Amino acid sequence: MSLFRLDASITPATSQSRALADLVEAEWSAEHPDSVVTRRDLGSQPLPATLWRDVVTSGFVPEADRTPDQRAAVAYATTLADELIDADALLLAIPLYNWGVAAHVKSWYDVTYTDPRIAGGALKGKPAVLATVLGGNYNPGTPKEGWDHSTPWLTRVISEVWGADLLVVQRQFTLVGVNPALDRFTEEAAEIKAAAERLAIEHGRALAAKRYSPVG
Ligand SMILES: Cc1cc2nc3c(=O)[nH]c(=O)nc-3n(C[C@H](O)[C@H](O)[C@H](O)COP(=O)(O)O)c2cc1C
Repeated sequence: MSLFRLDASITPATSQSRALADLVEAEWSAEHPDSVVTRRDLGSQPLPATLWRDVVTSGFVPEADRTPDQRAAVAYATTLADELIDADALLLAIPLYNWGVAAHVKSWYDVTYTDPRIAGGALKGKPAVLATVLGGNYNPGTPKEGWDHSTPWLTRVISEVWGADLLVVQRQFTLVGVNPALDRFTEEAAEIKAAAERLAIEHGRALAAKRYSPVG
């Protein structure tokens, strides 16, 4: 068995998305102690900003006319897609930055989606967990309700474009305890954290119990 894990925090030393994903991974590893875990850390090692452009434009010219950058980009994109396709399960740890999908995550998604195998359904039915964290609170009735444009987009593309079998665990209010202006939410944030941790463990067990066979 094999697990692919993506991390996207730009501050790995204090990352709450990593901590949440660690709980999922621990359950996976307990069930599959011999599992290979392939890791990609977009926060520490972002993809080159030119990668997506080069791989997309390589498709607009005959193969023989591709530039060295375009050839390298296609090879890079294939490696990224292989990481997803070759794994039996996916674990994606992704924070909210600036109310949307962070540029480095969008770039990774866009590059992997250039691979015709992924667009053609190679990830259909693949078990996946998205562990996402938000500094604020976006629940109904809060001032920023509707401002989290990351979780809905990620959920949409992973479950509906990839067709993966997705479970989501989200922890809100991670900035409580970091930003003193939020100190009055300490109790609520502790409850949110505990609930998210319980759900992460539950999702980790569910992920480990799934048996994936590629479709088609
Ligand atoms: C540059 C930057 C932008 C952020 N933007 C938002 C935001 O728009 N909304 C929000 O709720 N939290 C935001 N945060 C807070 C992060 O979501 C929060 O700190 C989260 O825990 C970061 O993930 P990590 O703990 O895995 O590193 C931002 C943090 C940084 C550093």
